[in-house]
Amino acid sequence: KKRTAEPFKIKAVETLKMLNDEERKQALEKAGFNTFLIDSEDVYIDLLTDSGTTAMSDKQWGALMVGDEAYAGSKSWYKLEKAVKDIYGYKYVIPTHQGRGAENLLSQLMINEGDYVPGNMYFTTTRAHQELNGATFVDVIIDEAHDSLLDHPFKGNVDLIKFQKLIDDVGAEKIPYLCLAVTVNLAGGQPVSMKNMREVYEICQQNKISVMLDATRCVENAYFIKEREDAYADKSVKDILKEMLSYSDGCTMSGKKDCLVNIGGFLAMNEEELYTRAREMVVLYEGMPSYGGLSGRDMEAMALGIYESIDDNYISHRIGQVRYLGQQLIDAGIPVVKPIGGHAVFLDAKKFLPHIKQEELPAQALAAALYLDSGVRAMERGIVSAGRNKVTGENNVPKLELVRLTIPRRVYTNNHMDVVCDSIISLYEKREQIVGLKMVYEPPTLRFFNARFTPL
Ligand code: F0G
Repeated sequence: KKRTAEPFKIKAVETLKMLNDEERKQALEKAGFNTFLIDSEDVYIDLLTDSGTTAMSDKQWGALMVGDEAYAGSKSWYKLEKAVKDIYGYKYVIPTHQGRGAENLLSQLMINEGDYVPGNMYFTTTRAHQELNGATFVDVIIDEAHDSLLDHPFKGNVDLIKFQKLIDDVGAEKIPYLCLAVTVNLAGGQPVSMKNMREVYEICQQNKISVMLDATRCVENAYFIKEREDAYADKSVKDILKEMLSYSDGCTMSGKKDCLVNIGGFLAMNEEELYTRAREMVVLYEGMPSYGGLSGRDMEAMALGIYESIDDNYISHRIGQVRYLGQQLIDAGIPVVKPIGGHAVFLDAKKFLPHIKQEELPAQALAAALYLDSGVRAMERGIVSAGRNKVTGENNVPKLELVRLTIPRRVYTNNHMDVVCDSIISLYEKREQIVGLKMVYEPPTLRFFNARFTPL
């Protein structure tokens, strides 16, 4: 097979600092063993997140200069609005500073106290906003998603029986919308099939329930459909994306991922009444409906990023790089979530560190050990991220206890991936030496961001 390379060349570089073993040990202790609290300067390869860490193109950097910073009616806003309508196909768009800004608006606009919001697994900020507005989140993802070893092409799919049961149990009038994430971050960046999207939309229409997508990584989802679903192999990612979004009534978007920018997001919808209320509300939290917390230049960059993201060469390299790392780890016998997802490789910390009980935070411990070993920064996505039950106050205990190696878009080369791979393999060889952690400071909401830990 012929080898392929990055579909871009590098025009500017950022020098990385490389700490020695002792310096990394000090940095980790200073950060309370929480990789969120390590200074970026002290990180060699930063796989904390793919959010806002994208390298912009020369065209995007150039466009910053033409940003129209008018308070109202900015030219740059009209470009962004046009890009969203053109590529995503929704009728109305409200810009927001990032994804959670859109989640805040959507949750406030659509949820009444005592409602239920089903979702295909959850995302931290998304669920937090739903709960803040009085909803109970109900996970309706297929069971396969909770089994890290099971190879299933569309692990993000909604279980239609679970969803129907919720409708039967609580009544459709208590379900304002179903939140459908494409792809599902916490399941391992796993996609939803077109068939499932179509079926979900049908059930929702029959029951007058809206489908609101979390479209954060929708282009990656479209690429998986092209690769894995019959009848889509010859379609462009652009056309697949359009069809996907046609099975929904709106979306929240974190532009920091698939729109290829460092900041930005939007809320989009087809219903005029919802749009009118969103326009009224956005001024309270984000800014005028023509900037939504973004500068004109940010909107220029996002408008271009939306077009760049649907380039078939870009997206095939993107998914290919994540798979390049994942496949090497699989070949070395490292327990990772299968199949390899769109934005990240997820280490299965329960299987990696079977001697550490889940209450001793194996994923947090593994992320800390990885930083110590090589300066690679990853993120816990397990019991710490899952937080506590809002009624009982008990820890939520997720089946998946993962460390996420999230690959920024267009930032690292495959040589960086090789370094990450070597470090993980060497950690696996000495895994018995890794010990569990306990939390010594726990913030009340979204605790994983600021919590502090100490080794047991
Ligand atoms: N939805 C999903 C699926 C996400 O992954 C994120 C952010 C958001 C919504 C919120 O968007 O950050 O722009 O406010 N995920 C980042 C991550 C933080 O690292 O996975 P935001």
